[in-house]
Amino acid sequence: MTALHLWLRHEVRSTERRTPVVPDDARRLVGSGVRLTVEDSPQRVFPAEEYEAVGARIAPAGSWVSAPDDAVILGLKELPDEPPRLTHRHIFFGHAYKRQPGAADLLRRFTAGGGALLDLEYLVDDQGRRLAAFGYWAGYLGAALAVLQERDRLTAPLRPTGKDELDVLLGPAPGDREFTALVVGALGRSGRGARAAFATAGVEPTGWDLAETRDLDRRALLDHDVLVNCVLATTPVPPFVRPTDLADPARRLRTVSDVTCDVGSPLNVLPVYDRTTEWTDPVRRLTEEPPLDLIAIDNLPSLLPRESATDFSRDLLPALLDFDGAPWDRCLERFRQACSEQLGAEEGASGRV
Ligand SMILES: NC(=O)c1ccc[n+]([C@@H]2O[C@H](COP(=O)([O-])OP(=O)(O)OC[C@H]3O[C@@H](n4cnc5c(N)ncnc54)[C@H](O)[C@@H]3O)[C@@H](O)[C@H]2O)c1
Repeated sequence: MTALHLWLRHEVRSTERRTPVVPDDARRLVGSGVRLTVEDSPQRVFPAEEYEAVGARIAPAGSWVSAPDDAVILGLKELPDEPPRLTHRHIFFGHAYKRQPGAADLLRRFTAGGGALLDLEYLVDDQGRRLAAFGYWAGYLGAALAVLQERDRLTAPLRPTGKDELDVLLGPAPGDREFTALVVGALGRSGRGARAAFATAGVEPTGWDLAETRDLDRRALLDHDVLVNCVLATTPVPPFVRPTDLADPARRLRTVSDVTCDVGSPLNVLPVYDRTTEWTDPVRRLTEEPPLDLIAIDNLPSLLPRESATDFSRDLLPALLDFDGAPWDRCLERFRQACSEQLGAEEGASGRV
């Protein structure tokens, strides 16, 4: 059996400082016989030299396009728009199985080139539990930004930081306005993170999960000052906030932090906005009267790149060390299913593993 050749790519998004494998875990991979190529990347929180020092080969940013056919390309977020045909196996978060905007185009690139997407969101154990996820830190930051917004301490552009520094800002200070907060999806990873950030901020939020939204009390939801949405929607449910609620003069809700960021998906529980917000401009006013501000940043954990990458890499490592394992077979199967659902007879979904 030939050794796995992993190719850790540079992330194209300039604010993406995380990586799915940190140098300490790169050492474990190399020590276990994995061939590891790491692309140079100006913004990655761990410099290329740290990977080189543990035995990885360094390659230029974006050179994965000409990597050997058997290399498995590893990243986190979106690929660049080129090349049009993807010939390799790629591990990353494709956000392409819920008919998101651009999903079919991405799947088409894979089927055109004979490559395959092994989507990290669908890398699960035998019980269907995600093996590696950024949820906790996404929730932590989603709630933290909402708190800072409420306390007039949110400054733009957002910059990556460390947890200790963030927690100093989050802590309550004399003169801070009192507010009520609701975390929906409170029992999940990001829900836990959101509740932890609120605790640091000295705020005790209401926590709702499936049981509390089954028969949605939208009035009670709109009676909170702050909403942090952390649900992982798998089937359509009635929206938590509807466009008509924006004009409701009795609405108390004034800050929504949407960690889920399912904008554009039929599963979106917050169909009141049409695009995410950015680090440069993290808060968008959706309506003036009564005011409602939106925070919808889809790469929240990258604001704490070191902590979030270290946790994620620790959880992903066992799966990378067992690349013949069943979780990867399931990932490939899910890719094929998505291709046949979304592309249908248009193209045969190939994909090797
Ligand atoms: N914005 C970002 O940067 C970022 C980063 C990571 C994850 N995410 C997203 O955050 C979401 C949550 O991820 P997670 O890891 O916390 O998932 P998770 O599966 O750990 O938790 C989701 C929780 O939502 C609950 N839930 C599902 N539907 C619900 C409903 N209708 N009402 C109430 N609760 C409901 C579930 O019971 C579960 O407790 C995902 O959509 C994920 O893609 C966003």
